[in-house]
Amino acid sequence: MLEEKIKWNEKYAKNFISKPSPLLKYIPPKKAKALDLAGGIGANAEILLQKGYDVTLIDISDIAISKITLPIKKICLDLDNYIIPQNEYDVILMIKYFNLNLLRQIPKALKKDGFFVFKTGGKYSIEKDLFFDIFKNFQTLHFKEDFEYVGVKKVEG
Ligand SMILES: C[S@@+](CC[C@H](N)C(=O)[O-])C[C@H]1O[C@@H](n2cnc3c(N)ncnc32)[C@H](O)[C@@H]1O
Repeated sequence: MLEEKIKWNEKYAKNFISKPSPLLKYIPPKKAKALDLAGGIGANAEILLQKGYDVTLIDISDIAISKITLPIKKICLDLDNYIIPQNEYDVILMIKYFNLNLLRQIPKALKKDGFFVFKTGGKYSIEKDLFFDIFKNFQTLHFKEDFEYVGVKKVEG
């Protein structure tokens, strides 16, 4: 969405600070594939990189992407209509960003035993029942209302 791009580019142009999420403590070190959805300037991607992951970060802000010097794959695009490849990732992050269309794709996008880390809040929260219906085949490692979640996919496919 163009307004989102303008809004976030303005923030990142003014040296918008971003800290890694404490929820990443649940992710074990591994040589595997991770996807950071709306990853901004890569604060969380950097932690995954240090844990051994091959990280792809997607964000709408070209200014945020241009500030990332980490050896990761960076993709500048609007996630509004994005289709995540299926059975592709061992870790997916959706942190301080919310997109229901993407959320619904995550169970298929993760491999079995893959981790999903989700944090949102405020006006972008989601009904707990709807969330756990989407993630019914996951084992919950962490949950807090309004809204934090870390879970592991427990089925194939
Ligand atoms: C609050 S920041 C969070 C950044 C990062 N996940 C973190 O936790 O540090 C929200 C991010 O969402 C990105 N964003 C917003 N709308 C987007 C869209 N439609 N497609 C892709 N990225 C988007 C913004 O550019 C911004 O980097």
